[in-house]
Amino acid sequence: MAPNPEKRPQAPSPAPASPSTAARLPPSGPFAGLREGPVDQRAYWERVSSVKTYTTPLAVEPFTRLVPRGARVLDAGCGYGRTLAELADLGYRPVGADFAHAALARGRAMGLAAPLAVGSALALPFAAASFDAVVLLAVLTCVVRDADQRAVVAEARRVLRPGGALLVNDFLLGDDARNRERYARFAPVHGTYGVFEVDGNALVRHHDPAWIDELLAPFAVAHREEHLFTTMNGNTARGFTYLGLAPNPCPPQPSDPQPQKGERTCNRTTPRNSTP
Ligand SMILES: C[S@@+](CC[C@H](N)C(=O)[O-])C[C@H]1O[C@@H](n2cnc3c(N)ncnc32)[C@H](O)[C@@H]1O
Repeated sequence: MAPNPEKRPQAPSPAPASPSTAARLPPSGPFAGLREGPVDQRAYWERVSSVKTYTTPLAVEPFTRLVPRGARVLDAGCGYGRTLAELADLGYRPVGADFAHAALARGRAMGLAAPLAVGSALALPFAAASFDAVVLLAVLTCVVRDADQRAVVAEARRVLRPGGALLVNDFLLGDDARNRERYARFAPVHGTYGVFEVDGNALVRHHDPAWIDELLAPFAVAHREEHLFTTMNGNTARGFTYLGLAPNPCPPQPSDPQPQKGERTCNRTTPRNSTP
């Protein structure tokens, strides 16, 4: 996924636009603070949280290689907690957050033991530097605007300790006819090639790899790969797994002649206490 701005698809010019979803939805509701993006995404996820099965897998390797057992891990956009149970089984101390009450209620009904918080991935209800790792599994796809995705990544960085790990998986632009048609149809409506409407009232996004590189640039890449994922609707889609490390400022060294200009980082791609 090396950045290549030349290849970044541009929104194609005029195609027949469907009526904007934004125009069909009521303005705000009791969760106005959690209403994000051009449509009421939260209402959609509240509705589907009790019926959908989420699918994109936790990348056990490289996660277990880079994040020591016992680490405190935030699963942001945890849904009904599918991954929280897996993280606990792997020896981590997981915490879940999601803006959909229904998702968390489903998790509790399933007997999830991990602490759960209602909260937006754009304004996480946690202190700075309070986690060793953050996972965002199929969450960026629900946060369609560039600025909002940047806010999600900034929040992940804020709650991570220096050198902490960020694991992301999500969907990439597909080059099949069905996907190309819907990207082209909705790009003039929603302004980004790869954003499209599903189930009549929600927006999702498939990503240009160059955008993902740009979005995650504040982190030091430790692992990335592309896959074919099965979506929650049973389709096959291109996707990626990314694991990066938050900047880890170096302590001053006795040999430093004067204070460093800019940010010097001491990121390592092997966990503390492990033998490289
Ligand atoms: C496709 S599901 C994936 C759930 C979970 N990460 C998993 O892989 O099992 C996306 C989840 O992200 C949540 N979500 C979407 N946008 C969010 C936001 N802005 N803040 C918090 N949660 C969000 C949805 O409620 C939903 O539970």
